[in-house]
Amino acid sequence: MAGPSTDTTDVPSGLDFGIGIDVGGTWIKGAIINMGSGTPVGGVRRLRTPACGTVDAVANTLDQLIDELESESPGHSAPAVGVAIPSIVQHGVARSAANMDAGWIGLDVQAYLRERLGRPVCVVNDADAAGMAEAHYGVGKDKHGVVLVLTLGTGIGSALIVDGKLVPNFELGHLEVGGHKAESRASAVARENAGLNWIEYADRLQQYLSHVEFLFSPDLIIIGGGISECSNEYLPRLSLRAPVIPASLENSAGVVGAALQAAAA
Ligand code: BGC
Repeated sequence: MAGPSTDTTDVPSGLDFGIGIDVGGTWIKGAIINMGSGTPVGGVRRLRTPACGTVDAVANTLDQLIDELESESPGHSAPAVGVAIPSIVQHGVARSAANMDAGWIGLDVQAYLRERLGRPVCVVNDADAAGMAEAHYGVGKDKHGVVLVLTLGTGIGSALIVDGKLVPNFELGHLEVGGHKAESRASAVARENAGLNWIEYADRLQQYLSHVEFLFSPDLIIIGGGISECSNEYLPRLSLRAPVIPASLENSAGVVGAALQAAAA
């Protein structure tokens, strides 16, 4: 299996279903995805992320999750498994490990998981997966130009999609803004930790997004992650040149995008 596709348009027509898995700091979510519609067959299932966060422990949980998904939906054969992780992923190799064990760094996670799970696996960055899902099935569909998808969660994930093609590993959560790493101030968890109300939080987001807009001039900004459910509270307070809209796939974007990347690879 080749590396992940960076194009939103190239899912092979024979592939009806794919398995998508999104590895987060607290939960590992997975679903069998109908590749035509981008919707989960039988819902999204989740298991707790092992507290140690090691590759080995996570691989065991993935194995269990895939077994559960396949026994729940026996009629839907899904050969390709996509796994989204909160790391820079360069040709299958993890180059960082936000909220995971440091043992991930430098490992060819894709080769390791193929061996462990005994099937084709495609490993991608979680925000890249979510971004591609929005561009293929969600509010980013058929949008041309420079589309920036940001996921606001434990950290800030970002995906840059230019005319439907992903520029992988665009780590904009790690930009320094006002002397701080952006995700330490403007992620959803940073808001909770600092006890900010929506007005205060919108101010922080404004500062961050103004900087991002100055650097990259996106034509459209899509905000995802769990916090996009409350987008009415902060999006109307933002003032940017580009339109800023909430993501439409909400919490399943990473799962859907992982399946999409695997199907296209
Ligand atoms: C990581 C990214 C990830 C994002 C969201 C950041 O801390 O560096 O790779 O996409 O969190 O999980």
